[in-house]
Amino acid sequence: MKQKVILDVDTGLDDAAALFLAAGAEELEIVAVIATAGNVGLDKTVENTLNVIETTGLSCPVFAGSAKPLIRQPVEAGDFHGESGLDGPVFGKRVIQELQEEDGVSAMIRLVKRHPGEITIISVGPLTDLAHALRREPALPSLVKEIVVMSGSFSGGNVTKDAEFNAYADPEAAAIVFSSGAPLVMLTLDITRTVTLSRERLDFLRTIEGRSAEVFSQCMDTYMANYEAKKFGWPQMHDPLCVAYVIDRSRFSAEDRRVVVDIDPASPSYGMTSREAIDGEGGVIIPTDVDRPWFWEMVERSLRNLP
Ligand code: RIB
Ligand code: CA
Repeated sequence: MKQKVILDVDTGLDDAAALFLAAGAEELEIVAVIATAGNVGLDKTVENTLNVIETTGLSCPVFAGSAKPLIRQPVEAGDFHGESGLDGPVFGKRVIQELQEEDGVSAMIRLVKRHPGEITIISVGPLTDLAHALRREPALPSLVKEIVVMSGSFSGGNVTKDAEFNAYADPEAAAIVFSSGAPLVMLTLDITRTVTLSRERLDFLRTIEGRSAEVFSQCMDTYMANYEAKKFGWPQMHDPLCVAYVIDRSRFSAEDRRVVVDIDPASPSYGMTSREAIDGEGGVIIPTDVDRPWFWEMVERSLRNLP
């Protein structure tokens, strides 16, 4: 039985890699994709998401999520993803995909209520959509199978000294999600920055037949160049690692902690996440290590499964 997933993305180059990994994974059924503002503005993340899903040939619906954070002023990460948010590939006119009328948060709530206990929500951008859904549907924590997010860091940030981008882009939303009591898995920079794409591996993946592998490689060329320009080393596979966790969690080791977020906008550590020992309920599963050769086998498999 395939696992039903909803992907909430701020497409972005590594979000695109996550979409390709999920679309080609035999274990997953993507029931919806929701594009939200984050790396770049909502208009661009919607366009990028539609183009990537069109490339995969999937007919799953794409919805527009939140255009801005709950409270703070928007921040973007175009320096890693380019002006369009997906610099590199050039897309033609779409023939399958067009944006759904329904807003993404309503769609998320509707689908989770239609499939109680069956849907895993994978969120790899700011957690604004999830926060809105939790406020509008208080039963959401008991209706989802699991929520898996790329958010936070316990060892220094990538957008400020202390804060990781997705948490920093909407700290109040992150605080709502982490304290919701939902079955939550949090992949932080501590693990995602340890999975990187080398030039040798990219050149191997580029040899895979098909437009999906071509677009993936063009996205990763840009991602690699931007990392090199910032002297950040090889590009880090933040978002696809969250999809890999849902494909097979047995390939990961993990701990169970409480997680808090600094939501004081006057604080220099605004958006910083911290973990605390479990003192009863409210634990968040935090993957701490992964079988990296297996991860790359999954990426290769998905690209070979896609047109
Ligand atoms: O900090 C990494 C996260 O921020 C990733 O989800 C990347 O796409 C950006 O959104
Ligand atoms: Ca992202």
